Amino acid sequence: MTADIISGKELSAQIKRNLSQEILQLKEKNLVPKLVVVLVGDNPASLSYVKGKEKAAAEVGMDSDLIRLPVETSEQELLSLLDQLNQDSSVHGILVQLPLPEQIDEQKVIDRIDPKKDVDGFHPINIGKMMTGEDSFLPCTPYGIIEMIKSKGIEIEGKHAVVIGRSNIVGKPVGQLLLNENATVTYCHSRTKNMREFTQKADILVVAIGRENYIKSEDIKEGAVIIDVGINRTVEGKLTGDVDFEGCKDKAGFITPVPGGVGPMTITMLLSNTIKAAKGLTG
Ligand code: GUN
Repeated sequence: MTADIISGKELSAQIKRNLSQEILQLKEKNLVPKLVVVLVGDNPASLSYVKGKEKAAAEVGMDSDLIRLPVETSEQELLSLLDQLNQDSSVHGILVQLPLPEQIDEQKVIDRIDPKKDVDGFHPINIGKMMTGEDSFLPCTPYGIIEMIKSKGIEIEGKHAVVIGRSNIVGKPVGQLLLNENATVTYCHSRTKNMREFTQKADILVVAIGRENYIKSEDIKEGAVIIDVGINRTVEGKLTGDVDFEGCKDKAGFITPVPGGVGPMTITMLLSNTIKAAKGLTG
């Protein structure tokens, strides 16, 4: 069996075309969705991510601002900036790029963003709503993963979904979203014993552990849906995921590549959340 490859690149392009149309319609009503991204410091990976977000916003005709603050910015300065952005009615979505320098408490920052502008879906109010199944901003990577699975007409209900990783950004919320879709969900993480016993039983396997080639062909079930959230750099500088793609692609039913898989979907769902914020649908 050769797996059907779920291209996040193609699906993103398709969704972005629809988002562009939606923005044109909003512009006719004098509403221009606007995203503000805040970057503290000059971490090269973070800078590259935020540039990608700005570029994608421009592609769909959305306004965006990048606010760059020096690495020594105090927590109070950042919180005051968020107060201003929360008050500014021309700003619909606010994203503070993580990680933050150590003098700043990340949770305090997340808590300060108006939940109606929390397009990352990280505010406890939005996380709580996600858990109860109320309309909310969904965290972008998990949201993108669900959209990728659904785009192939894959039934989630009743399936055994195994999530490897328990971060607040990916692992925990993707498990919750799969549960909301009526999957039976198992979480595995760095302290799980006999991980393979779980991965081999997974109908849907989401891998977000951050280790190159962590999941190999012998770890997966024939015909499984394999979602690779990893972004690792090989010693040669090549981007690679957490899954041995070449080894697994002849055994899986569906598989996401890296690059061109989950990554592009994350930014696209951020744009979608920002449009939703502009329309004032959530919070
Ligand atoms: N850092 C890595 N991923 C993310 C993300 O999805 N949102 C924010 N704000 N920071 C990140």
